[in-house]
Amino acid sequence: MNNIIQTENLGKKYFLDGTYIEAIKEINLTVKEGEMVALMGPSGSGKSTLLHILGGIDIPTEGKVFIKNQDIFSLSEKKLARFRNVHIGFVFQFHYLLPEFTALENVMMPAQIYNKSGARKKAEDILIRLGLKNRLNHKPSQMSGGEQQRVAIARAVVNNPSVLLADEPTGNLDSYNTHLVIELLRELNKKNNVTMVIATHDREVAEYCDRIVFLRDGRLQT
Ligand SMILES: Nc1ncnc2c1ncn2[C@@H]1O[C@H](COP(=O)(O)OP(=O)(O)O)[C@@H](O)[C@H]1O
Ligand SMILES: [Mg+2]
Repeated sequence: MNNIIQTENLGKKYFLDGTYIEAIKEINLTVKEGEMVALMGPSGSGKSTLLHILGGIDIPTEGKVFIKNQDIFSLSEKKLARFRNVHIGFVFQFHYLLPEFTALENVMMPAQIYNKSGARKKAEDILIRLGLKNRLNHKPSQMSGGEQQRVAIARAVVNNPSVLLADEPTGNLDSYNTHLVIELLRELNKKNNVTMVIATHDREVAEYCDRIVFLRDGRLQT
């Protein structure tokens, strides 16, 4: 199987109050196409930093990230934005849905950027598949936490990304909604062959995955 994600000596230093904080260091991680990987580690171990860099949302201070053999940080800002839109979906812990817009409008947005026609249909289809047929025209404040997180997942996968990165996607959910969300992710992984890296504190979530990688003080534990 192909490696769809590959990092080379990836590092990120923050400069704060006159000292460097190494959020992640010497990360050599490979993820194969179709794998579902859990990323675990104590709070502050660098999970979010790593996911943000894998998703091209944050920039490393050392090393490289290859997604589908593309060195993503060698791309211009504009090309990276497009690469992200087409190939990568991101689910944040606090969903970050736009409060003024309905579920359908939130999910349509990434689909509209480069391909206006068909965005509504695609967004509707995915929301219906995620069990949100009766929530299409609800705004985030009119939905439960679990529903909002499912909308956020719909938004992340509306463009059929090959890679989905999720940062504690069940961190704020009760166990019922945690199961809904994780089963949904597993189904998307299996049916659409979406490669996933999921940061989680939850052992149960991690056990749904094919493999667990651990971070400790910014380093991958091997
Ligand atoms: N913007 C930032 N400025 C300075 N330090 C940061 C910043 N973001 C994260 N850090 C530090 O980097 C380390 C890793 O953080 P993070 O990636 O958020 O870990 P996790 O997601 O595992 O809790 C922590 O020590 C954190 O304080
Ligand atoms: Mg985090």
